[in-house]
Amino acid sequence: MKRTFILALSLAGTAALFGQDPQYTKDGSLVMPKDYREWIFLSSGLGMTYGPAGQTDAAGNPRFDNVFVNPSAYKAFLKNGTWPDKTVLILEIRRSESKLSINTGGRVQTELAAIEANVKDTARFPGGWAFFGFQGSSNEAKLIPTSEGCYSCHGQKGAVDSTFVQFYPTLREIAKKKGTFKSTE
Ligand code: HEC
Repeated sequence: MKRTFILALSLAGTAALFGQDPQYTKDGSLVMPKDYREWIFLSSGLGMTYGPAGQTDAAGNPRFDNVFVNPSAYKAFLKNGTWPDKTVLILEIRRSESKLSINTGGRVQTELAAIEANVKDTARFPGGWAFFGFQGSSNEAKLIPTSEGCYSCHGQKGAVDSTFVQFYPTLREIAKKKGTFKSTE
């Protein structure tokens, strides 16, 4: 009995240490996972036209989208071709520049423009998933209501379980092999 308790305690401690489970504030906002840049990198998109990354700045520079997922969810996806409960996906949007340092062509990433999250927490959200948007340098992101376009576009056009796996090259083939890939063309 005592050993089970200690084991449970240390498992909870480990999860908290790696910050893998989503954390919420009392009013239901998502706490920024500070170490998301040490998570698994899924892909970058440049100047994608569907949303904020499609907006160029005054100099015509498009934005980059960088997508990260917590490591335990990634491992589960490799096994099952879909996301486990408590998955947290982060979309980091950065400005770009062309002429920077020795670079005179192509694109490099510069300052942060926005951070958004897509979180799977089935006990908490009726549809399983919820979206959050971080404002400025705040460490907390407000829950985006289900009436917003995030939910319908992701639900209808995302290839796997409300996520855009069709744009994540290492996961796309796995989902196809496991039969979880939904064609949304
Ligand atoms: C018209 C379709 C569309 C709408 C609306 C949309 N997204 Fe997405 N979203 C995408 C696409 C396409 C990607 C693929 C990744 C990329 O941008 O590189 C994506 C990726 C993401 C990701 C990365 C993880 C994933 O789910 O694949 C997050 C987080 C995200 N979007 C948040 C949001 C939030 C928050 C909103 C609403 C404010 C939103 N999105 C609205 C199309 C959409």
